Amino acid sequence: MNLVELHNITYSYPRTAQPALRDLSLAIPQGQFCTVVGVNGAGKSTLCYLLAGFVPHFYHGELTGTAQVAGHDVAQTPLAEMAADVGLVFANPFNQITGARFSVREEVAFGLENMGIPRAEMLARTEEMLALTGLSDLAERSPYALSGGQQQRLAIASVLVMRPRLLVLDEPTSQLDPAGTQEIFALLAKLVRRGETAVVLVSHELEWIGQHADRVVVLDDGRILADGPPRAILASEMLPIPGTRYTQAARRARAEGLAPAQGELPVTLREAVAFFRQA
Ligand SMILES: Nc1ncnc2c1ncn2[C@@H]1O[C@H](COP(=O)(O)OP(=O)(O)O)[C@@H](O)[C@H]1O
Ligand SMILES: [Mg+2]
Repeated sequence: MNLVELHNITYSYPRTAQPALRDLSLAIPQGQFCTVVGVNGAGKSTLCYLLAGFVPHFYHGELTGTAQVAGHDVAQTPLAEMAADVGLVFANPFNQITGARFSVREEVAFGLENMGIPRAEMLARTEEMLALTGLSDLAERSPYALSGGQQQRLAIASVLVMRPRLLVLDEPTSQLDPAGTQEIFALLAKLVRRGETAVVLVSHELEWIGQHADRVVVLDDGRILADGPPRAILASEMLPIPGTRYTQAARRARAEGLAPAQGELPVTLREAVAFFRQA
């Protein structure tokens, strides 16, 4: 059984003329690092909301089709129950820090405390999560004293400590500098490799996606325009967003007759080096 099974999902927000998701079907197996790309308004955030149950339980509107996520029928499952199995992380880590606790360690433990997890287990899970997200050395600090990348790792740790089966992240690096972005991609790749959780990531960071993700789903106008391994998708002519700088450079070199007219275009730096070597 797949972790995510969406069949013919069409969804419209209340009082809107056009659906935000249109006849969308998508299956995601356990253990996949799945990324979602697309232009503004394509429906990426709406897809994240559906996976977490915010659609239809917070944003009402009209939903047809079936959505099974982490063993739940999304339409039938209350948000609180979904939250135990699907973690959602947003763009701005600052907004996700509860502010209710003084230290990074307490912030990570907060959700478990609320769940009434026994103290010994809470402490063990908290330390484990601090180590996994590289925050052990910062555990005594105030969450507000962290860099953007560290704060986002804290937001991820606070969600992951609940042991969700699926981690959904909506542009989690859009407020981060390149170093912070790299930290987050490295962490997500590690989590997936270790089998901690499956990941659905919305991101514009095509180079990092090309390096780490298993799959790229291209959304356009609420529909799936393309779906496949990063190599095939990110170098494709039909991608509605510009490719990585390496793909763009290679395409230009090809157009100007400076590179072979045949063969795959590069996505990552490593592939670009190989591509231009043979040019
Ligand atoms: N809360 C909302 N109410 C009504 N329409 C919305 C709401 N949020 C998003 N939309 C619309 O749904 C469509 C998809 O938006 P969204 O999922 O935010 O796209 P993306 O995240 O890819 O930019 C857009 O047409 C947008 O205007
Ligand atoms: Mg969005």
